Amino acid sequence: MTMKIVVITGSPHKKGTSALLADEFIRGAKEAGHEVSRFDAAFENVHPCIGCNKCEYGKKTCVFQDAMNKLNPMLLDSDVIVFATPIYYWNFPAQLKTVIDRFQVTVFSMRGKKAVLLATAASKESWVKGALDMEFNNMLRFIGWEDAGRIYALGCSVRGEIENTNYPEQAYELGKSLE
Ligand SMILES: Cc1cc2nc3c(=O)[nH]c(=O)nc-3n(C[C@H](O)[C@H](O)[C@H](O)COP(=O)(O)O)c2cc1C
Repeated sequence: MTMKIVVITGSPHKKGTSALLADEFIRGAKEAGHEVSRFDAAFENVHPCIGCNKCEYGKKTCVFQDAMNKLNPMLLDSDVIVFATPIYYWNFPAQLKTVIDRFQVTVFSMRGKKAVLLATAASKESWVKGALDMEFNNMLRFIGWEDAGRIYALGCSVRGEIENTNYPEQAYELGKSLE
């Protein structure tokens, strides 16, 4: 089945480690015939949520008219939402967390979609992914998403390191095998 996939990246490095996972995932997904759109959060203008609740959880529009106007229709229209990100202090970087906080508008309209997490980190220690893993669990549970796969590319601080691992291949295979 052809699916609509939106990939949200979190890194400010266009040629970084998580960008490689995103690119390989997208290559696999496109080869499988899926339709992919991409939102590079670090290069978009997204104001942090100020909790005013003027949106009334999506009944009304957000007080900020910014790049979320582009992402929201992509989110609502998608079958799969992919987060491709470095780990910053054990969690999503601010660039991506800012986008997630702005889910206040779409949060109750995204039930039933699939979600994928592709994350990179410098450390090889498995505890480094604990908080992000739990955050992702909570998103799946609260928003009502199905877990469609997670890759934690640990021990990868720069591009040269991840290129010598099979994580890019894992990301390609995950994109290709989505169903
Ligand atoms: C502000 C900042 C915080 C980071 N925090 C962590 C961390 O908590 N654990 C870790 O293992 N690596 C951490 N790193 C390293 C990055 O996760 C790692 O270099 C990653 O590969 C960068 O991905 P990118 O090339 O896609 O930007 C941090 C890097 C930065 C710049």
